[in-house]
Amino acid sequence: MGRTIQIFDTTLRDGEQSPGCSMNLNEKIEVARQLESMKVDIIEAGFAIASPGDAAAIAAIADNVHNSTVCSLARCVEKDIDAAYSAIKRANSARIHVFLATSPLHRQYKLKMSQDEVLEAIAHNVAYAKKYLSDIEFSAEDACRTEPEFLAKTFEAAIKAGATTLNIPDTVGYMAPDEYAALVRYLREHTPGIENVTLSCHCHNDLGMAVANSLAGVEAGINQIECTINGIGERAGNASMEECVMALHVRRDYYQAESNIDTTQIYRASRMIQTITGVPVAPTKPIIGANAFAHESGIHQHGVMANKETYEIMTPESVGIPQNAIVLGKHSGRHAFEDRLRTLGYQLDAEKLDKAFAKFKLLADKKKIIKDRDLEALVGAVPVSGSE
Ligand code: KIV
Ligand code: ZN
Repeated sequence: MGRTIQIFDTTLRDGEQSPGCSMNLNEKIEVARQLESMKVDIIEAGFAIASPGDAAAIAAIADNVHNSTVCSLARCVEKDIDAAYSAIKRANSARIHVFLATSPLHRQYKLKMSQDEVLEAIAHNVAYAKKYLSDIEFSAEDACRTEPEFLAKTFEAAIKAGATTLNIPDTVGYMAPDEYAALVRYLREHTPGIENVTLSCHCHNDLGMAVANSLAGVEAGINQIECTINGIGERAGNASMEECVMALHVRRDYYQAESNIDTTQIYRASRMIQTITGVPVAPTKPIIGANAFAHESGIHQHGVMANKETYEIMTPESVGIPQNAIVLGKHSGRHAFEDRLRTLGYQLDAEKLDKAFAKFKLLADKKKIIKDRDLEALVGAVPVSGSE
């Protein structure tokens, strides 16, 4: 196996910024424990200066989590950094994550700062955070719409001031995968000292490319992926942890890299976030959606009943889902129909099976999904022999 990619989970910070996804203190502790249990390397527990509740939750997570690094976000402002440090200081392993926007749009309209002022603020505040802790991450917000030459200078300033991780956020989900990879390569070539720090990606999903961009980043030399459970996050969300982790796992032959995540806990973590936030995932959501391991068409059902690998590139068990689902509907074939009847305890002779199957097809034209109770009613309506 090749490189290990660190997983930096920001469900409790960027994820919580998703409309309708706020969590209370106990919920945050429960989520943090789950993240630790599945071996997340870094848990971004919140943004300490944002509210007293956020600061208290980060402190409680720092007290309760022992094996993952606990991190708080801070703007490039001393009072933010003070608040971040006081929230995380009791953690076994703590990180301060300092960020400042670097793109012309943000410099002109939001920060009203020149390039030199941005460089000065980064140098000053990273060094200020470094007085508290050795583990300091710097993020160049809107990095992907920043002039690459200037971005390299901001990273150089952060490295000189003591940053140990440099993050390249695609804050507005604007990049295409090859473009993101090219930016990572450019920075690796043009930033003095970059070989001594961890490079990180943080991709948003506005064009549906957060996971693809993160994986392109890995191919270009990124060693840390920032992501959230179920991909929750600002607007269209962040890169989804389950997709990044399983892409690395299933295609480790290709990426020559893997994460430390215990993949068998992915489904449990996803259900937990859905229950706590009340935000369900789409049935077609990769890895954890209701249809991710469900088969309705006859050809597919026949295939997976003979050998699951025909239509499954990973096992449901590998992500903590007990088994795949053979869904009976109008596309289903006789194999799956007969198999489900057998599971329900019915043994029909060929003639009765033909009749039952014909009735099943008629019913399936009217109903989207045929449940077990529909089958029982349907089989009960034809004379059956040997049923229990
Ligand atoms: O999307 C973003 O740029 C962020 C930073 C604060 C890392 O969330
Ligand atoms: Zn973000």
